[in-house]
Amino acid sequence: MKVTVVGAGAVGASCTEYIAIKNFASEVILLDIKEGFAEGKAMDLMQTASLMGFDTKITGITNDYSATAGSDIAVITSGIPRKPGMTREELIGINAGIVKSVASSLIAHSPNVILIVVSNPMDTMTYLVHKTTKLAKNKIIGMGGALDSARFKYRLAEALEAPISDVDGMVIGGHSDTGMVPLTSHATRNSIKVADFLSEERLDQVAEDTKVGGATLTKLLGTSAWYAPGAAVSSMVQAIACNQMKMFPCSTLLEGEYDLNDICIGVPVLLGKNGIEKIVNIPLSSAEKAKMQESADGVKKTNDLLAL
Ligand code: LAC
Repeated sequence: MKVTVVGAGAVGASCTEYIAIKNFASEVILLDIKEGFAEGKAMDLMQTASLMGFDTKITGITNDYSATAGSDIAVITSGIPRKPGMTREELIGINAGIVKSVASSLIAHSPNVILIVVSNPMDTMTYLVHKTTKLAKNKIIGMGGALDSARFKYRLAEALEAPISDVDGMVIGGHSDTGMVPLTSHATRNSIKVADFLSEERLDQVAEDTKVGGATLTKLLGTSAWYAPGAAVSSMVQAIACNQMKMFPCSTLLEGEYDLNDICIGVPVLLGKNGIEKIVNIPLSSAEKAKMQESADGVKKTNDLLAL
């Protein structure tokens, strides 16, 4: 199993680290445009191998896509992250050109690759990859919901004063401060609905804290977060590499599912060896349906900014 990670910034390096520590891939190519940077990150990570107990071979490469040839899965983290006070949507001008060229370089060397798009605004970047490449739709996957759901579980556990492993929940919709739809009505603690433990106000607070999860960290860190984004990507890569058929909310092209068309947005999917194996339809309340439609309207507005 050969995995390529494009972009050796904080998210790319974290995701490479977690993939290596989980020890399921034989090889990870870490590629960056900055001379020597990916080589340095890869060498530093490889020097943790004997300490952390992994055999994954990490190789750093400066901008030579021939080294990525034959990749089964590639992760696109390239582009600029947001600064405090910025929305993810404001990054479109710079990131669209970068993501388009990275995707086409990857596919040129690995025609059967499964692409995971992380660069922001992620739903629109995922849509851009659909529109500008000929890759099958099951092979283009946007990473947002896996991260947002992890942040939702963190906030739920905090409100419930419970260990995170007792908590389950999902966030669908767009990966943006206003577009996320945390499914509070479906969230559970040990299979009991969290609404049985928390007031409506507290649950609304959990949902709001989840939606601004990325912005809160950007304010604290001065740049966008990396540990949870890297961990979310590594779990998705593992689900594909190990054909786990695991359910994650991911940004995927919808053609009528959830009453939406010609848009990439977060919905529950099963991830396995072919990438998106199935889009899972779950029942939504009328309030959740309305929020999903509103979220889709926001993503479409950003998509309209692409010069397609
Ligand atoms: C975040 C970025 C990865 O939410 O979008 O932290």
